[in-house]
Amino acid sequence: MAVVHNSGFRLTKEHFLVAVPVAVVSAAAGFLVSRYLSGRSCKKSQVNTIVSKDSPKVVHSFDMEDIGAKAVYCRCWKSKKFPYCDGAHAKHNEETGDNVGPLIIKKKDA
Ligand code: FES
Repeated sequence: MAVVHNSGFRLTKEHFLVAVPVAVVSAAAGFLVSRYLSGRSCKKSQVNTIVSKDSPKVVHSFDMEDIGAKAVYCRCWKSKKFPYCDGAHAKHNEETGDNVGPLIIKKKDA
């Protein structure tokens, strides 16, 4: 069997016997490379890069009565005083174009 293209190019059974395995191997290699690269990018996309990395989960809990008149908590995960904001979000926003900021909890003015 042979398929003849308009240009006169002739595809024979032998061409397909070579082309199909090459296409299959190329598709498999592309899939594996994309899986490898997406696995690497997951690590890069972690939100928390510095806080208690040896812990499986970072959790902080506060009693409302202990907060006082005002508390400012970090939401960018860059603060060296985490869980409190130290202003590191400003540098993060400048470097990445992000727009994160702290969570501010305060008592209503009486
Ligand atoms: S330092 Fe993280 S929100 Fe301010």
